[in-house]
Amino acid sequence: PFPVAVAIMLLAAVSAPRHASALTRHDFPEGFVLGAGTSAYQVEGAAAEDGRKPSIWDTFTHQGHSSDGSTGDVSADQYHLYKEDVKLMHKMGLDAYRFSISWPRLIPDGRRQINPKGLEYYNNLIDELILYGIQPHVTIYHFDLPQVLQDEYGGLLSPRFIEDYTAYANVCFKSFGDRVKHWVTVNEPNIEPIGGYDNGSQPPRRCSYPFGADCAGGNSSTEPYIAAHHLLLAHASAVSLYREKYKAAQGGQIGITLLGWWHEPASNTTQDAAAAMRMNDFHIGWFMHPLVYGDYPPVMRSRVGGRLPALPAPESGKVRGSFDFIGFNHYLIMRVRSIDTSSGQEPRDYYVDAAVQNPAADITTGKVETAPWSLRKLLEHLKLNYGNPPVWIHENGYADAPSKDDDDEDRTEFLQDYLETLYLSIRNGSNARGYFVWSFLDVFEFLFGYRLRFGLCGVDMGDAARTRYLRSSARWYSGFLAGGELRP
Ligand code: NOJ
Repeated sequence: PFPVAVAIMLLAAVSAPRHASALTRHDFPEGFVLGAGTSAYQVEGAAAEDGRKPSIWDTFTHQGHSSDGSTGDVSADQYHLYKEDVKLMHKMGLDAYRFSISWPRLIPDGRRQINPKGLEYYNNLIDELILYGIQPHVTIYHFDLPQVLQDEYGGLLSPRFIEDYTAYANVCFKSFGDRVKHWVTVNEPNIEPIGGYDNGSQPPRRCSYPFGADCAGGNSSTEPYIAAHHLLLAHASAVSLYREKYKAAQGGQIGITLLGWWHEPASNTTQDAAAAMRMNDFHIGWFMHPLVYGDYPPVMRSRVGGRLPALPAPESGKVRGSFDFIGFNHYLIMRVRSIDTSSGQEPRDYYVDAAVQNPAADITTGKVETAPWSLRKLLEHLKLNYGNPPVWIHENGYADAPSKDDDDEDRTEFLQDYLETLYLSIRNGSNARGYFVWSFLDVFEFLFGYRLRFGLCGVDMGDAARTRYLRSSARWYSGFLAGGELRP
């Protein structure tokens, strides 16, 4: 389906800007937004305060499943320190802050009763951002499903999720939509079903292919597809609601944010090349194809067969075109090796017949193979196959180990390289509208707990006051945001 040769020719045809090193933000299109982000469970803390009830992530961490045994109970304590954080964002010069709303804080029982303290918190945070001229970009659902919905009907595996999610989204639009003009329905619906239902590495830990830890039952060959299907329909349902009831009056934009791994062949064999393209379809196409064309990619239909849910009308029509933009979280490259199933080597069901890995990945340090050209390939792929939709890079960032040393030159270089690539992609016709560094400050990094830090700003997690400090990358970003050169 993907004309590789054409893509390669196009990539080769782009010439470097004359002075790439002298780039400034003014070389990006007018109105291009530069910000940084976090998500609720990762940053808020106050897990049992003011009426908040547990999400599936509270359960997971309290059962000791994060790799360092930690929880998000306190984390960076943004719930109490949001005013200080907004001042810091202002000092850094962020145009926008991407954060998520905690469903179990706003609607602790998953449906019906709104928690007034939750409402107050998000109203305060949004007002504070606006006071300082910082745009709120809000994710409605970022992995933290109320535990009660998991217990009651199996969470994402039940179509009841769609109804409850839509009612929750309705509360968000109604309460905050006068001030929030950028909505993301769901964060990374193309990975949550894998972690939660294929390999069990994240809640609710269902799998039939144990990933180190013991899994809590499940069926990896069907459940990831069902969970993703319900996330897709929930997204489309919220977008219809927004468009019917709110968009005209509130004038905002709504989209969905996908994880954007770029899959490259592990060798130059045609089998591996085909497997890599297939994996891009299984990973990106899983959502992009229905969003743009109204059904799952043909390669998924043919390989997954009856295990892949049908998408008949009228749902298909509701899904198709249900976005104003697509967000991408882009971090790394996956290398793909084709598996010859006749050799007796068993593929895992989700991956069908490919082995997918980041060969440089080190589970203890979080180091992974990265290269900025993968962002360019991802954007070219969207251009060639999905009609070049408006795109927001909602996450891009660099992890290292905790350190009080505020000198993080590697992070700065990483971000410079990706911003330069993004600039070149835009020059070559990609429709990117904004870029957010992950993360604004150190957060609870889901699978790694506090062993990995992504923050432009550090947080002293050992100190009760959760003191923030600027890293050198934050100072560099600040200079770039103020109009300075990308590589001063
Ligand atoms: C993706 C997720 O959206 C975010 O929650 C996570 O911390 C980052 N990637 C880094 O892994």
